[in-house]
Amino acid sequence: MGKDKIVLAYSGGLDTSVILKWLCEKGFEVIAYVANVGQQDDFEQIEQKALKTGATKVYVEDLRKEFVTDFIFIALMGNAIYEGRYLLGTSLARPLIAKKQVEIAKMEKAEYVAHGATGKGNDQVRFELTYAALAPHLKVISPWKDPQFLEQFKGRTDLINYAKQKGIPVKASVEKPYSEDENLMHISHEAGKLEDPSQQADETVFNRTISPKQTPDEETFLEIHFKNGIPTKVLNLNNGVYKEDPLEMFEYLNEIGAQNGVGRVDMVENRFIGIKSRGVYETPGATILWVAHRDLEGIAMDKEVMHLRDMLAPKFSELIYNGFWFSPEMDFLLAAFKKSQEAIDGKVIVSIYKGSVMPVARFSPTSLYDQALSSMDVEGGFNAVDSKGFINIHSIRLKAHNLVLKEKDPFAWRKGIIDG
Ligand SMILES: Nc1ncnc2c1ncn2[C@@H]1O[C@H](COP(=O)(O)OP(=O)(O)O)[C@@H](O)[C@H]1O
Ligand SMILES: [Mg+2]
Repeated sequence: MGKDKIVLAYSGGLDTSVILKWLCEKGFEVIAYVANVGQQDDFEQIEQKALKTGATKVYVEDLRKEFVTDFIFIALMGNAIYEGRYLLGTSLARPLIAKKQVEIAKMEKAEYVAHGATGKGNDQVRFELTYAALAPHLKVISPWKDPQFLEQFKGRTDLINYAKQKGIPVKASVEKPYSEDENLMHISHEAGKLEDPSQQADETVFNRTISPKQTPDEETFLEIHFKNGIPTKVLNLNNGVYKEDPLEMFEYLNEIGAQNGVGRVDMVENRFIGIKSRGVYETPGATILWVAHRDLEGIAMDKEVMHLRDMLAPKFSELIYNGFWFSPEMDFLLAAFKKSQEAIDGKVIVSIYKGSVMPVARFSPTSLYDQALSSMDVEGGFNAVDSKGFINIHSIRLKAHNLVLKEKDPFAWRKGIIDG
């Protein structure tokens, strides 16, 4: 009988290299799979390392375009933002990496998949829920939750010693004293020296964006076009450069954002498993897109649709964060969000300057904005005398409240609301 095949999500780092070897020693035929989601890696070198470590085959998959069109742009429809600040760069990449891994397992007729995410974080959940949703028959090996593996590898030193013993190359360069996850959308920095949330991350931590203190003294004006809420074109009004291909466009937004110090976030967030965690993020291009898209909705989206969608956005973000990208509730939300974007057409001009992104003008063929109606100067389209009735009707309930509670002076308690 042949060996069982396993597809390992392989990043080329120390952990997944040790895992690769460990799986070989457990008797698996290991197929290594490396996703290119836009991280700065030498894929040729990673491929060689996987083969040298014992993989029988290596898949290197360029997922960058799909990441932009089928993940980032979809998140944008719902203005996804976790706990008001995190744009979900890692959360969005994980289901994509896992989806391709499942496809490879199917192609290879492998019954097993493995990943090297730790047992304390969000990523293990994101990988394994995606496997469950897309290929429930697959068996999952997650070494960082495997008692045998944990017994053998109690810390980094064990990993390094094992690697040396097995002839796995260990990078001689000094490791950063914190961990990073990088893709096209963002780079995150966490753990290690960043664990103390009272300590400011020093400038050396940031490696995608230039400090706003060092950015150009001139504003950059970008014109960003949308159709059905999806970005279709970016035009730099300072120099005429424009991009229409989704990947090129997104890379260009990253470039402009990075040059201008856009998209830095330093926060303490709630992980799915209930642990609080400090994260420092750099998300330049997406930050620009999120601001521009939101602004176009201001002019082109129906009020009630917007308010409803906005109520659902925190739930949407939580689902992405928690790993439920492929789930029935996500399908339900996406159907509604897609509908909400039908009239989000037009363009927004944003001014980018020293870390800030500010919409300064917007145009839409489906604009609901009526200058005559909203103008303070023009009388027209609407009889101001009608507002009398509008206010009268809204007053009924408030008057009743006051009359019923008159004896008690219903709002008197607010005088003590602050000092108790
Ligand atoms: N680019 C990638 N291609 C394939 N799998 C990946 C990639 N990035 C991360 N993974 C998988 O996700 C797990 C968790 O990722 P991460 O915490 O970033 O660990 P690592 O230090 O190995 O990059 C990895 O152990 C690996 O299984
Ligand atoms: Mg990584």
